[in-house]
Amino acid sequence: MEIVADEVISSRTGSDSDGDKGFVVTPWVVKGQLDYAKLVEQFGTTPISKEILERFKKITGEIHPFLRRGIFYSHRDLDWILDRYEAGEEFFLYTGRGPTGNVHLGHLIPWIFTKYLQDKFGAELYFQFTDDERFLYSPKETLENTKKTAYDNLLDLIALGFDPKKTFVFLDTDYMETMYPIAASIAKHVTLSSARSIFGFENSTNIGMIFFPTIEAATCFLPCILKGKNIPCLIPAAIDQDPYWRGVAREVAPKLGYYKPAQIHGKFMPGLGQGGKMSASQPETAIFTTDSPKTVEKKVLSSFTGGRATVEQQRRLGAQADICPVYHYFYFLFEQDDSELGRIYNDCTSGTLLCGDCKLLLAERVKEYVIRHQEKREKARQLVDDFIVSDVRGGLRKKSGLS
Ligand code: TYM
Repeated sequence: MEIVADEVISSRTGSDSDGDKGFVVTPWVVKGQLDYAKLVEQFGTTPISKEILERFKKITGEIHPFLRRGIFYSHRDLDWILDRYEAGEEFFLYTGRGPTGNVHLGHLIPWIFTKYLQDKFGAELYFQFTDDERFLYSPKETLENTKKTAYDNLLDLIALGFDPKKTFVFLDTDYMETMYPIAASIAKHVTLSSARSIFGFENSTNIGMIFFPTIEAATCFLPCILKGKNIPCLIPAAIDQDPYWRGVAREVAPKLGYYKPAQIHGKFMPGLGQGGKMSASQPETAIFTTDSPKTVEKKVLSSFTGGRATVEQQRRLGAQADICPVYHYFYFLFEQDDSELGRIYNDCTSGTLLCGDCKLLLAERVKEYVIRHQEKREKARQLVDDFIVSDVRGGLRKKSGLS
């Protein structure tokens, strides 16, 4: 499945754009017609093989739909992580969020998958809110705002049901006493010229952004330092975050005496427009977890589809599910049953199912999902202290005493 993306989040920091292939994927810019196979080639990652899926099945008793459907499709050292796990060694999970606005369904994809991994492997999760990154990157952003947004976004994370005893969440600006020595040790091994080539930094890039990658990389080693032993790390995220691991964390790890962090890379959930990943910068085509049911319905019913110009043509030619965000929403999140998904695909492409009916069905499912999520999000307000760690309390201790 190919998702068509045509979006500029912002081009301020430059990119490792590949004009010939017509797309750009960096931690800050996702634009053009994405070719996920070419990204694997370009980034030097490895597609997830059938053998790896079988190993997941053997260990967890199932193959999660995100794996089965190739939504998580590429990796680095995932086989090595499974080897260590089977040899009795625990690994930890690491993922995060750059808090700029409300969380949308696309952000939930890696977190839902991370929760599944936590449940199945009993792994601890270290979750980083890069309030500094978003402040440094966006000209108009303030630190007060990114911090406030992080606390609000945290409710979405907690709502997904992570185990508070195994989940450690921090905001960079609240955790620098712990993070800075790790970031400084990393920074010593990264030259400006390699940072430029990995991230596309330009002379006009502020120097905070140039140092920042060391902070995102630092979490890969944080538990090792806090616990005084080498622990394997697995990072579930969409593939846009790969430059941090490829260019910084994995390069520096052996120099600091740590394992290279492993990754599992996801594809992007599309927006509801014609092409483009779901992005907060296009709010009319993104579904936010805080949207009202009415707004959700309005957005879904106004979605672009792969439908034909007239009902007659659609009945005769069938619609184009492969370019249709409505179909992709079923594929990503809203139809877990493969045979039912297959039926939707066949009915769509054979002209039996018309776009209006399909959108109505999806709107109901998304509304239900968002209503349920919002209930859990409200309850999460009471649980914040069970998840947050900060320098003030030191190491991994939480205000609630839970650790
Ligand atoms: P951020 O806030 O841009 O994105 C948070 C997570 O969501 C993924 N993502 C998506 N996944 C599927 N479909 C989409 N449409 C979509 N849009 C975004 C991102 O890949 C990410 O996993 N710098 C990071 C924060 C961070 C982090 C990390 C992320 C710090 N440490 C470790 C992953 C792993 C950021 O700004 O993410």
